[in-house]
Amino acid sequence: MNRRKATPANIRKAAALIRDGGVVAFPTETVYGLGADGLNPEACARIFEIKGRPRFDPLILHECSAARARKLFSRVPKPALKLMRKFWPGPLTLVLPKARSVPDIVTAGLPTVAVRVPANRHALALIKAAGRPIAAPSANSFGRLSPTTAAHVRKHLGGGPDIILDGGKTVIGLESTIITFVKGRPVLLRPGGLPLEEIEKAAGVKVLARERNSARPQAPGCLKKHYAPAAALKLVDGESGAKPGRNAAYLAFSRRPAGSFGAVRVLSPRGDLREAAANLFACLHSLERKGIAVIYAERVPARGLGRAIMDRLKRASKR
Ligand code: TXA
Ligand code: MG
Repeated sequence: MNRRKATPANIRKAAALIRDGGVVAFPTETVYGLGADGLNPEACARIFEIKGRPRFDPLILHECSAARARKLFSRVPKPALKLMRKFWPGPLTLVLPKARSVPDIVTAGLPTVAVRVPANRHALALIKAAGRPIAAPSANSFGRLSPTTAAHVRKHLGGGPDIILDGGKTVIGLESTIITFVKGRPVLLRPGGLPLEEIEKAAGVKVLARERNSARPQAPGCLKKHYAPAAALKLVDGESGAKPGRNAAYLAFSRRPAGSFGAVRVLSPRGDLREAAANLFACLHSLERKGIAVIYAERVPARGLGRAIMDRLKRASKR
């Protein structure tokens, strides 16, 4: 069994594996990542194999400090610096022109690289011990639900990773928010664990929406169908939009439905978007079981983390 508790000894072992070109699944504050030496192209290629990504999508490089992370960029505009200072370590990924040291397989040939400093002590210890940036996508199979526990990773990737470091349930539960800069202005590539409102407050300007209908999606997390659970998912405004039954599940925001469903999950009994975000993928994973044909998912308020929750639910509903 490749699943091990994230103890200091196991983290050291995992770091040695990374230095040797191995692949390690590890917890971050957002979701679990599938990591390899970010400066070793062959090791990065194994990530794609294990995930079964149909083509090489660019990876996020994870560093253990903002000072080290900056070295992976060739240029950092001032407003980006401000965001780094304010939000790293944290659920923010910045996409900026890459340094020469960053291999092409990491960026899929793009002139830019995605970098973040995760706010999780196990992840930081792992990166520090490895002594190099760790390239990591979410540790799920391509197009499927992101993992928020080591058990989710195990379910999707089995014995693929050399080690799965178990650091418990991830705190945020949604992938990082991805921001790039166009002519010095912040542009949103993927809504995520850091609410847009907070970024705008820190930046002092509006974050622009990603350019629509660009021929090539800038972030595959932006592919229409992504984050899909095995059952069909339908968005509803409330229980009146759902048909109860044994084969149907109901994913409520804060209140249990009255009707009788095969399974019911409540994202946040307190009606708190942060709590809902943290529970989203775990609820969907647990509904991915035999017999459930359709999941009715309630729309949540589209503010703060609600925006990222709605983004993931909308994508999961496309099929
Ligand atoms: O929270 C997270 O971001 C997690 C944890 C493990 O850090 N990682 C994650 O990685 O969600 P992944 O590969 O599932 O999603 C990364 C997204 C992809 O959609 C990818 O296309 C985009 O980042 N990306 C990476 N490099 C890029 C670049 N140079 N330009 C535009 N998008 C990029
Ligand atoms: Mg992903």
